[in-house]
Amino acid sequence: LENGTARTPPMGWNSWNSFGCNINETLIRQTADALVSSGMRELGYQYVVVDDCWFNPNRDSAGNLQGDPTRFPSGMKALGDYIHARGLKFGIYQVPVDKTCAQYFNSYPGATGSQGHEVQDARQFAAWGVDFLKYDWCSPNGSIDQQVATFAKMRDALAATGRPIVYSINPNSIHAKTGPQRNWGDVANMWRTTEDITNTWNSGQTNGYPMGIQNIIDVNVPLAPYAKPGAFTDPDMMEVGRGGMTDTEMRSHFAMWAIMASPLIAGNDVRSMNAATQTILKNANLVAINQDSLALQGAQVSFDGTRRVLAKRLANGDVAVALFNQGGSTTTISTTAAAIGKSGSSFTLVDAWTNASTTSTGTISASVPSHGTVVYRVSGGGTAPPTTPPPSTASALASV
Ligand code: DGJ
Repeated sequence: LENGTARTPPMGWNSWNSFGCNINETLIRQTADALVSSGMRELGYQYVVVDDCWFNPNRDSAGNLQGDPTRFPSGMKALGDYIHARGLKFGIYQVPVDKTCAQYFNSYPGATGSQGHEVQDARQFAAWGVDFLKYDWCSPNGSIDQQVATFAKMRDALAATGRPIVYSINPNSIHAKTGPQRNWGDVANMWRTTEDITNTWNSGQTNGYPMGIQNIIDVNVPLAPYAKPGAFTDPDMMEVGRGGMTDTEMRSHFAMWAIMASPLIAGNDVRSMNAATQTILKNANLVAINQDSLALQGAQVSFDGTRRVLAKRLANGDVAVALFNQGGSTTTISTTAAAIGKSGSSFTLVDAWTNASTTSTGTISASVPSHGTVVYRVSGGGTAPPTTPPPSTASALASV
C-alpha cells in the first residue's frame, strides 16, 4: 500500500503472544522503557502495538472508542504520548467486524468493532497519535470480496486522517484462509498469511490453528513475489524468547523471518529477556538483511523436502543466503554463487551469526544442525538485477 509508511518491514513489539488480554498501561509503559534500555529501539524496533482487550466494552455517548477505564486509566492519548516521548511509535488493535476476537471467543464483553464506525474510529486513532493499526478479521463470515471491500474502507478512512499510519491486516482469524490466496499489497502495508503462530517448531498444521514456525515458513516462502516497499507478507509476531523451542530453532525462526522480509514484531516479554534471546533479536547482521532498502522477500533457490535455500538480493549488490535444515539430523546444505544470481569467480561469505568471513570460488555450503539455519552475506563479483517475477496468485499458490 502506497501510503508512505513501511518502506521496509515494520519492526516492534506486540502484546498478544505473551500477555493476551492481560494487559494494562503499566505493562505497555514498562515495555516501551525496555525497548529503549535493551538497545532494541536503536536497532529499529519502534512500534509498540497494544493488541486485543485495551478498550472499554462500551463506546461513549457520541459512539467514540475509549480505553478500558481500569486497566488504561490515563487514556490512550496519554499512552501514545508516553511511547512517543521515548522515540517509539504507537500501535493499536481493532477489528473490521462487530466483535474483536476476545469478544467473540474469550467472553470479553461488548461489541466494539469498527463496522459502521470506520471514519469515526480512524479519526479517533489519529487523534490519539496512533502510528500503526492492526485490523483483525475475527469472524467466520465474509467472502473474499467482502473482506477486500471492508479492509479497503479502513484503508481509505486512515488515509483521510492525513496521519501516516501503518496498516496491518489479518484476513485469517477463524476464517477461510484467504491470506495465501491473495496479494493484499493494494489494501495494506502488511497482511497475515497464516492462522496464529504458537511457540512450537511444528504444530502439524499447515492451514489451521495453531501454526508452528516450520509450518508458517512452508506457507510464507512461496509468497515472496508479493513483497515490496510498502507491502509485506506477515507470518505473524515472533515467538523468540517464549520457550517451547531450542535456541537453534529460535535462531532459525529469526533468521527466516529476517530473510523473508517479514515484519520483525517481538512477541516475548522484553522486560525480562535472557542473554540468548537478546542475542537473537539484536543480531544486527540479520536486521540489516531484513531492513534492506530493496525490500525483496528472499526467494527459494532450492528445496528437497529437507534442505531449503533462500536468497535475498540486497541494495549494494550483496546477496543474503539462508541454508535451512528442516530435517531431523545434521546435514550439509549447498548452493552456488551462480544459483543466487552472482557472477564472477571470487566471493566473500560472512556468517550472520558468527561474523566469520571465508572466501569461495563459487560454492556456498555449510553443515547445518537439525532445524538450524546458516545465513551468509555473499559479496564480490557481479549481481544479476532482481528477478522477482510479477506477482502471480497462481504461482504463489502452487506449493501452498
Ligand atoms: C487473532 C490474531 O491472529 C492474533 O494475533 C491476536 O490479534 C488475536 N486475534 C487477538 O484476539
